[in-house]
Amino acid sequence: MGNTYEPILSGEGATDYERYMRTAVLLSLQRTPEQVIHHDELLFQIVHQATELWLKLATAETAVAAGLVRDKRLAAASAQCGRASLAVTIATQQLEMLTYLAPWTFQLIRTILGHGSGFESPGWKALRQAALELGTAFDEAVAASDTNLAELYRGDTDTPEYILAEALIDLDERISVWRVHHFKVATRIIGHGVTGTKGTPVDTLSKLISQQLFPRLWQVRTELTRTGPMAYNEPAS
Ligand code: HEM
Repeated sequence: MGNTYEPILSGEGATDYERYMRTAVLLSLQRTPEQVIHHDELLFQIVHQATELWLKLATAETAVAAGLVRDKRLAAASAQCGRASLAVTIATQQLEMLTYLAPWTFQLIRTILGHGSGFESPGWKALRQAALELGTAFDEAVAASDTNLAELYRGDTDTPEYILAEALIDLDERISVWRVHHFKVATRIIGHGVTGTKGTPVDTLSKLISQQLFPRLWQVRTELTRTGPMAYNEPAS
């Protein structure tokens, strides 16, 4: 008698793939063709929902990274932080699908969004919170070592502290790059000088691009420039 590959997991679905991946629930989360007011709602919902999933992963990896830093496992924390950064990059790439959303189509879809706004995105809120906790853990790790950020950045680039600092700045930068792309997508679709569904002027999104999760890691670069061999060229602050 040969092997049988009948499903063995419990749950909804004809196959173990469907049961484990919970595809029935997942694929029921988009409005049906009967419910939508425009076909492109599917594109609009999937980009947002997929983003929330990638941010869920980014948040979980960032939280693990913070725990690893507190356990003094800096190399492992850097790798974990890299996963979070990649998840943010993938979310950024997905924004490109919205270039297919015509400005007038969005005006139609907008009528059924209520006051829903990206400001309420649970994924972004959770990631920011997790990243701030990672930043605190990093600051504590540097404070506990016999160095400071400026010395760290003048020293070897292969120390666990330096590699972790660069993993953090990478995450910070990739979130800003998402914001750059999101600002371009938003203005390409709704234009400049108007407000979003939450009443925020769209152009304030451009100011958020310069927000920093780990400001000290950006400041230390300025400090290096102001104190480096070419410092005489720098205007006094
Ligand atoms: C049709 C495409 C989109 C347009 C026109 C758009 C427009 C806007 C506007 C006008 C705001 C300002 C707040 C408001 O009043 O609503 C905003 C904020 C925001 N949106 Fe979008 N958005 C789009 C797609 C997305 C996608 C796919 C995401 C992914 C979750 C997203 C996430 C956010 C976030 C997180 C904010 C808060 C600002 C920030 O943290 O940078 N948006 N969006």
